[in-house]
Amino acid sequence: MARKVIIAGNWKMNKTASEGKALVEELKPLVSEVTEAEIVVCPTFTTISTVVEAAAGSNIKVGSQNIHWAESGAFTGEISAVMLKEAGVEYAIIGHSERRQYFGETDVTVNQRLKAALAANLIPIVCIGETLEEREGGKTEKVLFTQLEGGLADITAEQIGGIVIAYEPVWAIGTGKTATPEMAEETHNYIRCQLKDMFGDAAEAVRIQYGGSMKPENSAELVAQKNIDGGLIGGASLKAESFADLIKNAIA
Ligand code: 13P
Repeated sequence: MARKVIIAGNWKMNKTASEGKALVEELKPLVSEVTEAEIVVCPTFTTISTVVEAAAGSNIKVGSQNIHWAESGAFTGEISAVMLKEAGVEYAIIGHSERRQYFGETDVTVNQRLKAALAANLIPIVCIGETLEEREGGKTEKVLFTQLEGGLADITAEQIGGIVIAYEPVWAIGTGKTATPEMAEETHNYIRCQLKDMFGDAAEAVRIQYGGSMKPENSAELVAQKNIDGGLIGGASLKAESFADLIKNAIA
């Protein structure tokens, strides 16, 4: 099944609104001819509306880096899916390893956020991945299985095709250490098999991104793998030229 490549830039806690606007203005002409990949940028909450405005009419879509599971209420400091939707957001990263590591995110809260994203018609990008200790301890598959089972609880075969999974080995994030294309493909294939067990043939439609030190130099090899359908990019998405080169190489 042909799955459309999806490349998303996770800006993390970088870029003020004016910096984000400048980045998108620079990126737009560099990727304007790209039709083979969905392009998404995920700024901080305060930068979202400026970036939505800057990206309007282009092939660049906007995502958030998190969402809360409730629509509204007494949750100081949080932002809901409906608020993001109204601000022009179309995608939502959920369960990034930095949220799991620093902010107490669990598979249960990932699942709650996922349901809220789907209810608001946001395309969820659900992040999973093992730490170095878990990989070295031979626990990668078990960890991913648990994250998928918990994170995707109650999701139906009808819904799964609209969900993007981002496989991000924690040891490859911001370290310059990328999984080799073969190593990444082996894990992506495992994820696809698990999704098939859970959802049957509908799993074929799920896009599985790779994340962790993806850059212009390795995006082609990674995305060429059968079960790697794009990337979730940190560092290399913070400069227009490197993000554009990474995207073009990935679809070349
Ligand atoms: P880097 O591309 O900087 O390794 O970050 C990956 C990531 O965490 C994207 O969500």
